[in-house]
Amino acid sequence: MNPAAHRAGPAPDGPGAPGAPVAVVSGGSRGLGRVLVERLLADGRRVATFSRRPNEFTEAMAGKHPDSFHWAAADLTDFAGLREFARDSARRFGRIDLLVNNAGVLHQELFLTGAPARMNDLVGANLLAPMHLAQTCARVMTRTGGGTIVNVSSINAIRGYRGVAVYAAAKAGLEGLGRALARELGPLGIRVNTVTPGFFDSDMTADVTSRNREKIQHRTPLGRLGTVDEIAEAVLFLASPEARFITGHTLVIDGGITC
Ligand SMILES: NC(=O)c1ccc[n+]([C@@H]2O[C@H](COP(=O)([O-])OP(=O)(O)OC[C@H]3O[C@@H](n4cnc5c(N)ncnc54)[C@H](OP(=O)(O)O)[C@@H]3O)[C@@H](O)[C@H]2O)c1
Repeated sequence: MNPAAHRAGPAPDGPGAPGAPVAVVSGGSRGLGRVLVERLLADGRRVATFSRRPNEFTEAMAGKHPDSFHWAAADLTDFAGLREFARDSARRFGRIDLLVNNAGVLHQELFLTGAPARMNDLVGANLLAPMHLAQTCARVMTRTGGGTIVNVSSINAIRGYRGVAVYAAAKAGLEGLGRALARELGPLGIRVNTVTPGFFDSDMTADVTSRNREKIQHRTPLGRLGTVDEIAEAVLFLASPEARFITGHTLVIDGGITC
């Protein structure tokens, strides 16, 4: 058994210590990514994250955890920049134990009238960017004893919704990627899983109209949207030692709306 493949609990040498496990989280400035960064730092991990812009949160974390938190600007559509971000994180911290492909871009527009260039951007940000990050991070993991990858998909991947065809296709691709990588990377001590959230409160869903929110709640057996903490718990579980025999899995967390 490869111990690094399921390293995820509190750091053995104390919070943020030089030997502490290292997590790379895409889009850690807001929403789910922000909660993951907070929770991982609180668990004693060292964390590298990027977004297009810094904000009060990333600046506060950099001030509070100068040795165990790293933020840089990077864009999901700049694949070379993403690869450099991951390599720089590995150089800075010496290893990568966990990658969370969290960042995603939702753009709603009808398929027939959508701009062709937008298709490339959406597939690039939601599918190709996680591939580039997964390849760069997994190469590092193979050199340092293994690790784990958690990809964040969406129920759009398993249910068709009007106006999100390209996003849905990209997220479905991400789920396929996770299953294939689990097979290919498992023998190298790397687990790969997917979390598939339903609607949860974040900036991404801030402009859902109250009428649509009511519809979602009505169609959800548990009668509400999820919370960002509920989705983060699932990601952290799949990254944890408790999930050490789980790989290639897709965990749907949606209050039952797709059941
Ligand atoms: N919210 C939901 O209801 C829901 C449901 C199902 C699945 N999801 C998935 O859950 C994940 C997290 O969603 P969320 O709601 O937490 O998102 P969010 O609140 O919109 O946060 C997105 C994060 O990604 C960064 N980001 C966005 N576009 C980027 C780009 N082009 N390049 C680099 N960074 C970028 C943002 O920072 P900057 O803007 O500064 O770049 C931010 O840190 C996504 O994969 C999303 O598809 C969300």
